[in-house]
Amino acid sequence: MSIDFTKIPTPCYVIDELLLRNNLGLIKQVRETARVDILVAFKAFSNWGVFPIFKEYGFGASASSLNEARLAFEELGVRAHTYSPAYEEETIADILKYSSHISFNSINQLRKYSNVAIQKGVSIGLRVNPEFSDSPHDIYNPCRPGSRFGITADQFGSTLPQEVEGLHFHTLFEADSFALEKVLAVFIKKFGKLLPKLKWVNMGGGHLITKRGYDIYHLVKILIDFKNSYSVQVILEPGSAFTYQTGYLVSTVLDIVENNGIKTAILDVSFTCHMPDCLEMPYKPVILGATDEIPGKPTYRMGGISCLAGDYMGNWSFDKELKPGDKIIFDDMIHYTTVKTTMFNGVNHPSIGIWNEKSGYRLIKEFNYHDYKNRLS
Ligand SMILES: Cc1ncc(COP(=O)(O)O)c(C=O)c1O
Repeated sequence: MSIDFTKIPTPCYVIDELLLRNNLGLIKQVRETARVDILVAFKAFSNWGVFPIFKEYGFGASASSLNEARLAFEELGVRAHTYSPAYEEETIADILKYSSHISFNSINQLRKYSNVAIQKGVSIGLRVNPEFSDSPHDIYNPCRPGSRFGITADQFGSTLPQEVEGLHFHTLFEADSFALEKVLAVFIKKFGKLLPKLKWVNMGGGHLITKRGYDIYHLVKILIDFKNSYSVQVILEPGSAFTYQTGYLVSTVLDIVENNGIKTAILDVSFTCHMPDCLEMPYKPVILGATDEIPGKPTYRMGGISCLAGDYMGNWSFDKELKPGDKIIFDDMIHYTTVKTTMFNGVNHPSIGIWNEKSGYRLIKEFNYHDYKNRLS
């Protein structure tokens, strides 16, 4: 039985539990076959209302802030592997309380906080920058010249500070295993001499393991070969892969307007507030039942409910003319959405719900005026 979207009050993010479990199962299979650690990167998805499902699969967590590390501890029941470009004196003690591993972005930060991390028994790592990425989007390329992320090989010298147990790199974006293979070759060339002294290597995120066609056997082989060559624990921390293609943003057409021959369907959702990656990356999302523009078919821009002039995307064609009340269902709207949304313009936040075959739709959270008011003062 597929989701009955007519039953879902909009606007709403709807997670499909079956699709989510498929992803979790596949990633667990990679973890067990390669005998590596795979952490959920909270930056991509941290809707803790569904963590009871995640818990069944036994993943750890990767955090980028005190809030994420604390959420991992409270709601996933694990201490996080934490990395931030810099830590603050006011919060480092709490971050260490909720972390099993901490990676520092610079030698300055390592010098500043390594003693306290050692006292708390937290394993220390350094983020390195291999200066190699094949990300097609500059905004998601942490290895660009001038990047603020990680220590480059020429800054490193030949010795590892003795308190450092691990290295962390993150260079990939929605990548396949062959991209990882290329990055690893560069990483080994630049930092390989440090590997015999390490306990762990964290290969960051960007591994889109759950994308159709991803060669998981190749990934497993690379990971096993690496582990066997260097006798280190291997850690991956993908975000997107966990919730890739696991649900929708369901919206309703409120009005149709026309200007200079361009028809816009005004929706009860917003690109800037609820689908920010579409504008930031940018990319054009899939709408169920619509196609890219086909001349001769009813064709529309989708217009957001905010006042931002650029809060629209185009163009999609439909079989029939759209009218107020029609549902517009954006596909693949679970990762990097609810973690990035805003209430700009006071626009209400879409509800969050989950759907499964047995019980149908279940509302997890609704938002109201108090959520808007409580963010402000
Ligand atoms: C350090 C780090 N780890 C993990 C991730 C997760 O990456 P993805 O969601 O692309 O798998 C990111 C994403 O920006 C990151 O910066």
